[in-house]
Amino acid sequence: MELNLDQAYSEARRELETAAGDPQKIQALQVHYLGRKGVLTQFLRSIAGLPPEQRPAAGQKANAIKQQLSADFDAAIEALEGDGLATQDRIDVSLPGRTEATGALHPISRISAEICAIFSKMGFDIVEGPEVEKDYYNFEALNIPKNHPARDMQDTFFVSPDVVLRTHTSPLQVRTMERQAPPVRVIAPGKVFRCDSDQTHTPMFHQVEGLLVDENVSFGDLKGTLTAFVHQMFDEQTRLRFRPSFFPFTEPSAEVDILCVICRGRGCRVCKHTGWLEILGSGMVHPAVFENVGYDTGRYTGFAFGMGVERVAMLKYGIDDLRKFFENDLRFLSQF
Ligand code: DAH
Repeated sequence: MELNLDQAYSEARRELETAAGDPQKIQALQVHYLGRKGVLTQFLRSIAGLPPEQRPAAGQKANAIKQQLSADFDAAIEALEGDGLATQDRIDVSLPGRTEATGALHPISRISAEICAIFSKMGFDIVEGPEVEKDYYNFEALNIPKNHPARDMQDTFFVSPDVVLRTHTSPLQVRTMERQAPPVRVIAPGKVFRCDSDQTHTPMFHQVEGLLVDENVSFGDLKGTLTAFVHQMFDEQTRLRFRPSFFPFTEPSAEVDILCVICRGRGCRVCKHTGWLEILGSGMVHPAVFENVGYDTGRYTGFAFGMGVERVAMLKYGIDDLRKFFENDLRFLSQF
């Protein structure tokens, strides 16, 4: 009996060795030796037929061999899985890991923040105001009376006869001056709304307004400040020109063009072959506006300017369709 057990074990080991690498053979052998009707199980059963004094020793021996053989099969199967990994599913530890997609500021938020940062460094404070605005602040206090033809410049969303969605950030000029005495140096970023939609207009867009009021402020200060801004926003080579214009709340008024960032003045599609791109409106604050807020027009002068954030972003990034900013296509947005 003992001899048989030892024989059976060494036979099983030999067969296992020849089967190495073949999962099906190993499995069949496992059943043959350790299965319900397997060789080892038979042995264990036959112990019951032995004389009582032989049973404990035979049982111990048979169990020990069964355990050993089980361990051998486990090892063979494990080696097999290891092999499989090595040849098929090997983990390439040099592969770069999967990274989480990170969020980023929308290009408009980024440019708006950049504009504000440049003026902050020049000492301007940031102020904000309501998007649903009184007609008074959006128009009247800015020297645009009811029925004035200048209202045609801005297609307005009316909420009620006296309340509008602000068409520009200029109402912040009046709101700021009502709150504080000169000197004033503020920058006001925000959303504005106009009833207009095509390739170069969206019903909502963003502006940044600037206002500086003090004694002895001249048009030279306006030019110097805006030149410094453009040089920081674009680069030192970017030239500016101030073109006479009209806004009811400034006198004199000027529109500012920069040398085309695409063609550097040679003429291209973006600048419509003029070599110049308009980036903002500006001027010296009209005395009528000062009077509306109770400022002493004999003592104070000031300048104001307003620019479209989308426009600056388009020029800075060379984008020719305004609507791209609002479609929220991640393939577009993730480029910034
Ligand atoms: N509010 C004007 C607009 O939306 C832009 C503007 C022009 C603002 C001249 C100003 C300014 O402060 O002085 O078209």
